[in-house]
Amino acid sequence: MIPFWLKRGYYAAMWFPMRLNGALYRAARQPKEPVNVQLGCGMHHYIPGWVNVDGNIVTARPDLWANLLDPLPFRENSVKVFYSHHVVEHLPEWFLSDHFRNLYRCLVPGGGIRIGGPDIGNACRKFMEGDMDWFSSSMPIARRSLGGRFANFVFCGGEHLTALSESYLDELATDAGFVDVKRCFPGRESSLVGPEVLSKEHESDPDVPHTVIIEARKPLS
Ligand SMILES: C[S@@+](CC[C@H](N)C(=O)[O-])C[C@H]1O[C@@H](n2cnc3c(N)ncnc32)[C@H](O)[C@@H]1O
Repeated sequence: MIPFWLKRGYYAAMWFPMRLNGALYRAARQPKEPVNVQLGCGMHHYIPGWVNVDGNIVTARPDLWANLLDPLPFRENSVKVFYSHHVVEHLPEWFLSDHFRNLYRCLVPGGGIRIGGPDIGNACRKFMEGDMDWFSSSMPIARRSLGGRFANFVFCGGEHLTALSESYLDELATDAGFVDVKRCFPGRESSLVGPEVLSKEHESDPDVPHTVIIEARKPLS
């Protein structure tokens, strides 16, 4: 796990180069046709045929190196689908409304978002039930206790900056102007994406998923 101070320093030092790279992409490299975009692809979540974006070129393999805390480097009405999986919770709480408005701005009318992250509601339920096995015993820090494992899930060693749930994601999407907000089971349900995306989502609990995923659409007019 990357120490918090090192990550902060990296994003501060790379702020200008990332912003410049995003601006150059938007001005010169972005295809004229609408694209599908994955935000925060990481190392093992690369989707061929999509524009995969990430800010970390050490731990990720992006097509487009950009900071999600900057305005997204896509023209207005130029993206068909935005997908992000376990990324939004790494952005600061105060920034999330801006992030969803950014997504809305870049989408074509009728385009959509599929956004997922750790389900804090289900984690609370499993904590109250005392279900140790629902939580990881070692990610990111080895923990023997229920409380320690719950803290791992919620804070991820300080990597997570907000707590996601179905109602919160619904509120963020609705306030940004999205419609048809609905919850989808990881790896199984979607009205936006196909197997190239669903095959990346792994869920070990068929009843109480660890990941909350919502899809929503930008209205046609
Ligand atoms: C937990 S990983 C998820 C990777 C992948 N989506 C998955 O589900 O396995 C979070 C990813 O978001 C990226 N990320 C976090 N904050 C970011 C930011 N401000 N700008 C760009 N990328 C960011 C990280 O570099 C990392 O690759």
